[in-house]
Amino acid sequence: MRLSVIGCGYLGAVHAACMAELGHDVVGIDVDPTKVAALNLAQPTLYEPGLVEILQRNLTNGRLRFTTDFAAAADAQVHFLGVGTPQKRGEQAADLSYVYAAVDSLAPYVAPGALIAGKSTVPVGTAASVEARLKQVQPEAMLAWNPEFLREGVAVSDTISPDRIVYGLPAGPDGEKARALLDQVYSQALSAGTPLVATDFATAELVKVAANAFLATKISFINAMSEVAAATGADVTKLADAIGYDERIGRKFLNAGAGFGGGCLPKDIRAFRARAEELGLGDTLTFLKEVESINLRQRVRISELVVEALDGHLMGHRVAVLGLAFKPESDDVRDSPALDVAVRLHGLGADVVCADPKAIANAAALHPQLSYTEEVTDAIDGAEVLVLLTEWKQYRELDPALAATKVRGRIVIDGRNVLDPEAWRRAGWRYYGVGRN
Ligand code: UDX
Repeated sequence: MRLSVIGCGYLGAVHAACMAELGHDVVGIDVDPTKVAALNLAQPTLYEPGLVEILQRNLTNGRLRFTTDFAAAADAQVHFLGVGTPQKRGEQAADLSYVYAAVDSLAPYVAPGALIAGKSTVPVGTAASVEARLKQVQPEAMLAWNPEFLREGVAVSDTISPDRIVYGLPAGPDGEKARALLDQVYSQALSAGTPLVATDFATAELVKVAANAFLATKISFINAMSEVAAATGADVTKLADAIGYDERIGRKFLNAGAGFGGGCLPKDIRAFRARAEELGLGDTLTFLKEVESINLRQRVRISELVVEALDGHLMGHRVAVLGLAFKPESDDVRDSPALDVAVRLHGLGADVVCADPKAIANAAALHPQLSYTEEVTDAIDGAEVLVLLTEWKQYRELDPALAATKVRGRIVIDGRNVLDPEAWRRAGWRYYGVGRN
């Protein structure tokens, strides 16, 4: 099919490349000429495993190109909207200006019978107003909302083989036509048996924010349990294993530690609460406020563990922070718990050296006051405390005996509960986990 993808950030760049990989003819459109030029050279400004390879392959075979010119979308049968919906400055709500600007720029080029499929995460009710805006310019065009559930770090496989597909379809005959177009786009995943939920706009919009709210709640639940475990001498990791065997609960997303961050979960739960307030349902989602408080408290708790480990004084002590990205296999530091803790420790007077294999450039742009190194050995050299905050494989697999020969103090704070406490203790370390006795 001929497709356009409007907005070539995280979501859009990955979506455009993956749609081309599936055999479609795709043009990606973005207002940022630097981003477009980089994508046309298969040099995305974001790190996502596998993305460069599929960009290269599909730019070379001619199925994919990027441009700033909306007119290039004119012959597309389906236009995906993948622009950002960041948090508004000084407010909790989502900023929809990029969505509306994209629709306004695109609408004159949308052919009769063509479909715009919104992928951005939006507050419930947005699709209805986007549809009205589109119809004013092109009454015979259609809108659907088709939320995206990709996870950073595995975004390529999540897009090519999603675990479910959701269509929010317009009412009336347009609904059937829109569905037929989307079925063609996703024919490969559908024929492989991927579950499809076809519904109305509001449900599709809510599915995305509800999924993220649930995941955030699950993480904060286990982090709250980690506080109780810390106070009572219990072990939250064993607790999570034990409750996770119950299939109704499940073990995934029950890892206590520094908590959630990134470009989605934090902003999406804030925007969901803001939208609920507008709908007069503020009380209904009050619990999400608590979910966020627990999440932010984890950063304070981990900083306090470092202070405690150094007998109350950080001033002038050398602390190695391992990890800055909000999760492994990503260079994204948006709302990253790891970076937040590093900044706190620096603010408390510690001499902080941060290591991360991918996220240093992004972290340094925000916090030039910290010291950075890509090499874990450089970071731990002479450190008095190691603080693991992003569970990159190379940090999980650190050899405690070898690390012991490099440091000045054998104290390790495992902010993601991924190290083997016994192995570290055997090598002479004082091990602190999060709610891990
Ligand atoms: C999330 C959703 O998973 C995805 O479906 C949606 O499309 C976008 O938002 P992502 O932001 O890539 O994806 O990261 P995710 O893997 O969900 O992790 C979010 C955060 O939660 C990370 O900071 C991670 O470290 C943290 N986390 C995750 C925990 O603290 N504990 C866990 O058990 C799991």
